[in-house]
Amino acid sequence: MGKDTLTVTDNRTGKSYEIPISYGTYPTYGAAIKAADLKQIKVSDDDFGLMSYDPSFGNTASCRSTITHIDGERGILRYRGYPIEQLAEQSTYLETGYLILHGELPTRSQLDAWMWEITHHTMIHESIKKFLDGFHYDAHPMGMLIGTVGALSTFYPEAKDIHDPAVRRKQVIRLMAKMPTLAAFAYRHSRGLPYAYPDNDLSYTGNLLNMLFKTTELKYAPNPVLERALDVLFILHADHEQNCSTNAMRGIGSSHADPYSALAGAAAALYGPLHGGANEQVLRMLNEIGSKDRVPAYIERVKKGEVLLMGFGHRVYKNYDPRAQIIKQVADEVFEVTGVNPLLEIALELERIALQDDYFVSRRLYPNVDFYSGIIYQAMGFPVEMFPVLFAIPRTSGWLAQWEEMLEDKEQRISRPRQVYAGPDRRDYVPMAAREAGKAA
Ligand code: SDX
Repeated sequence: MGKDTLTVTDNRTGKSYEIPISYGTYPTYGAAIKAADLKQIKVSDDDFGLMSYDPSFGNTASCRSTITHIDGERGILRYRGYPIEQLAEQSTYLETGYLILHGELPTRSQLDAWMWEITHHTMIHESIKKFLDGFHYDAHPMGMLIGTVGALSTFYPEAKDIHDPAVRRKQVIRLMAKMPTLAAFAYRHSRGLPYAYPDNDLSYTGNLLNMLFKTTELKYAPNPVLERALDVLFILHADHEQNCSTNAMRGIGSSHADPYSALAGAAAALYGPLHGGANEQVLRMLNEIGSKDRVPAYIERVKKGEVLLMGFGHRVYKNYDPRAQIIKQVADEVFEVTGVNPLLEIALELERIALQDDYFVSRRLYPNVDFYSGIIYQAMGFPVEMFPVLFAIPRTSGWLAQWEEMLEDKEQRISRPRQVYAGPDRRDYVPMAAREAGKAA
């Protein structure tokens, strides 16, 4: 192969430029030119220089990252090099969270210390309950989570010292530990139930189930199959390179805001129905379809562009989302305990038809992580409003890892994209009288 450069000729001037090409770990992991190298391409000395135009960053690398690698063509997802299939099979969410945040799998003693720290930071300030009590009874739990995690920034003002690694680590532990508590308390508020406090004898997901579903029993005993299923689902949702909400986390963090405020913004981005809110919309879609025989009519509405097939499609995965395949295996284990969710039949028929219909095949639309996760969550007893919350809890590890990587990256500065201005040229102010006469139109 030739030199690792790009030679471009600006036909406006006839000048040629040689621009270096850089790579990720391997050329197949990403080859890029620096957009800044385009600035030298000018038509005159007072020309600003060429920019790259990429609405919604469809083909723009915003950073160099060592955390997660996705190969959309091959359906590959790896955290710090470890395949998601092996982590889902052999790891736990907290061990995976340690890997994502520290870069290496922990030793036994490192994992024990990590788990001890998180277990002993699950309590939240009692004043947070006053915030939750201020929400309407039917407030969406995701709105409550976004509000309360942002409010945490006022309880830990030292978190603003983002350049101190020890201060950052303390906030990482607090957020990993308290997101389940905030989520569970939001759920209990929306159900009019008293708050169930953390139980340090339980695992990360066992304790979440305890805080969500404990009633009059003295000690909640999570179903081990459901506890493990939730842990695997959390592993699958832990990070996903530069998705919309991670981009928000990095963008807000780049102004050196504290991590609680940045994470509230990331959770707000995740809430959108095109992103982490899709799992909730999938269930609403399946309920709207109502029965297997009505699937073809819905597919026709999708093909007319009237509705989206929620839980299908992905900006990166163009063959299949490896997480969706693992989730289908988890579904079987959950349904052994809960009974099969009747909506599964509709989902399987949607998938069967879509995977053979040229509309979806030509657009390379396949089930993504959100297509089956909601069916499992519903079978486990979660209301649909909790689904995006169950996405935000595990993604906290990814958001925080990406945030720290951004802060330590010497190439990163405050995020401030440029634009191509297409508005009116300079024009003079028009007095009201002239406007009234319609002269300003
Ligand atoms: C997540 O980025 C990540 O990594 C996200 C995530 C993570 O872990 O962080 O993986 C989690 O957010 C998964 C995605 C969940 N969202 C949904 O399931 C919502 C439904 N999906 C679509 O909204 C869409 O597929 C996106 C948002 C996921 C991807 O959008 P893109 O890459 O911008 O694709 P596009 O909108 O350019 O679509 C290309 C074509 C269009 O048709 P044409 O204009 O070419 O005719 O495909 C069509 C779209 O209309 N299309 C769909 C569709 N998704 C895309 N048509 C019907 N149903 C869909 N779901």
